[in-house]
Amino acid sequence: MSADLEPSVKPVIIPPVITIDGPSGSGKGTIAHRLALKFGFHVLDSGALYRLLALAAQQHGVQTHNEAALQVLAAHLDAQFQDNNGEAMLILEGEDVTQSIRSEEIGAAASKIAALPTVREALLQRQHAFRETPGLVADGRDMGTVVFPDASLKIFLTASAEARAERRYKQLLEKGFAASLPAILADIQARDLRDSQRTVSPLKPAQEAIVLDSTALGIEAVLAAVIEAAKTKTNLQEFLVKS
Ligand code: DC
Repeated sequence: MSADLEPSVKPVIIPPVITIDGPSGSGKGTIAHRLALKFGFHVLDSGALYRLLALAAQQHGVQTHNEAALQVLAAHLDAQFQDNNGEAMLILEGEDVTQSIRSEEIGAAASKIAALPTVREALLQRQHAFRETPGLVADGRDMGTVVFPDASLKIFLTASAEARAERRYKQLLEKGFAASLPAILADIQARDLRDSQRTVSPLKPAQEAIVLDSTALGIEAVLAAVIEAAKTKTNLQEFLVKS
């Protein structure tokens, strides 16, 4: 058969992924959004998925240790991420829950249910579905280690517990939630321990991750460091928009 009679085979282009993992309050979300803008990529806030599930569990009276019921709830989670003028709007069972999933109570419940292996498994496919052209920036705890192990660039963003507590405190006050700094620090420390000591997908840097500390660096410097690292990756270079 001559070459021009062969059916045309389109190369399968696998969208590149940048992963940003790290503990609560390290600035992952801000960095992920800024990077997504810079590259023109989609964003996955995987923590929001666990938070949505925690809120659904609360609304359906399912306890955080009831793994069987949580697995079913996760598999059928009626949740959408919608774009609202560049900001993510989170819809759970038809209701806008963008603000309510951000409470400390829901964060703590999300951390508890995230330790359950079958729950994580049930949410895996949903996370993979965010990988669309032209590419994805995914933030969470296990983006580089488990969910997107073939990511082009893996960042692990950390900061001292005190600095993260201070940031969270300010954010909560700005969003109109009541907040106590010592309680937030204790919550962050408990959450760090739970997220990093669980047996499935614990919070830890991927082997090839670049570890950055936002306590010392600040968000702009972190962003600059990530962009410098991206410049060395051939499949990311073409997306770097000059700005
Ligand atoms: O990033 P966040 O604070 O919104 O995440 C809430 C909780 O969800 C966090 O304490 C642990 C869990 N989580 C996880 O286990 N794996 C992820 N990839 C993202 C979040």
